[in-house]
Amino acid sequence: MRDILICGGAGYIGSHMAQWAAAHGYTVTVLDNLSTGHAGAVRWGELIQADLLDTSALERAFKGRRFDAVMHFCARSLVGESVSRPYEYYTNNVTGTLNLLETMRRHEVSKLVFSSTAAVFGNPIHDVIDENHPKAPINPYGASKLMAERVLADAAHAHGLRSVALRYFNAAGALPEHGIGEAHACETHLIPNVLRSALTDGPALKIFGDDYPTSDGTCVRDYVHVQDLAQAHALALDFMGEHEGAHAFNLGNGQGFSVHEVIAAAASVVGKAIPFEIAPQRAGDPPKLVASSSKAREQLGWRPQWTALTPILESAWRWHRAPPSWFPNQN
Ligand code: UFG
Repeated sequence: MRDILICGGAGYIGSHMAQWAAAHGYTVTVLDNLSTGHAGAVRWGELIQADLLDTSALERAFKGRRFDAVMHFCARSLVGESVSRPYEYYTNNVTGTLNLLETMRRHEVSKLVFSSTAAVFGNPIHDVIDENHPKAPINPYGASKLMAERVLADAAHAHGLRSVALRYFNAAGALPEHGIGEAHACETHLIPNVLRSALTDGPALKIFGDDYPTSDGTCVRDYVHVQDLAQAHALALDFMGEHEGAHAFNLGNGQGFSVHEVIAAAASVVGKAIPFEIAPQRAGDPPKLVASSSKAREQLGWRPQWTALTPILESAWRWHRAPPSWFPNQN
């Protein structure tokens, strides 16, 4: 399996996938509508600019090319935005996936690695979330990803599609030495916001809620480096070579950090205090999401390399301190 199509390969996680794949001998083609991704982040293969909602463009992308497998990172992925704009989330994340799957079926591409999310679980009822945890999403983003996972199970049965859904917890970090990192025009994620407030004299960082049922009242998340996510996707390709059907794995480091703990760790990385103010809770945020990734370790052989928070933050800090020319103006 050497020729892979990376849908969403101009985005944050997809570009790290392309770097990993090229470094490990795969031939990479990127398909991306560049709505949130960046042409400047496509450095390891041809870029086809196309939208998964445009079935003719998808057909053109597959015609005359031969892919051994597809990795599907294209999605709207902001929890808060999904609550206020659900139609966009279902259209992009479910219809877009269906269009891709149908095009793959027509072109006899039978292996897919799918970007899923911890948001499929909703409010956790166990301290650590394994794959058997009930799936009860509390926002349209998580619901759209769970629907797509269901489609993959049906596609395995009906069309023999082999798939692996990887449920990321909180993707973080960067590979500044390869010119890639997190670069959203509208940045909502905690770590980039914390680092940006250390770099600018703009408005203080907002902590969305300090009245959650956690040790310090702020939300707890499990931060996993994007390069480790990329490693898991490559292992998923090997796994699909040997296993039929639709499979799902959780990916996290198994350790939770509160918003306060992230801010404190970031302050020591950047060498100065990071001012913040307490704001109301953000819609759709569960109090705590921490992964059990035992299944990925045992069945995929996943061995994350970035297991501590500080190096993850340091990589993100190096990226944000010296971003490339294509880095977007943020609001
Ligand atoms: N947060 C702040 N201030 C900010 C940004 C974030 O307090 O400026 C808080 C959030 O409220 C949350 C935590 O920091 O409690 C982490 O927020 P992020 O936006 O960085 O990430 P999310 O936890 O919202 O998103 C992640 C994944 C999604 C997944 C979601 C599940 O990126 O794929 O968890 O809720 F769906």
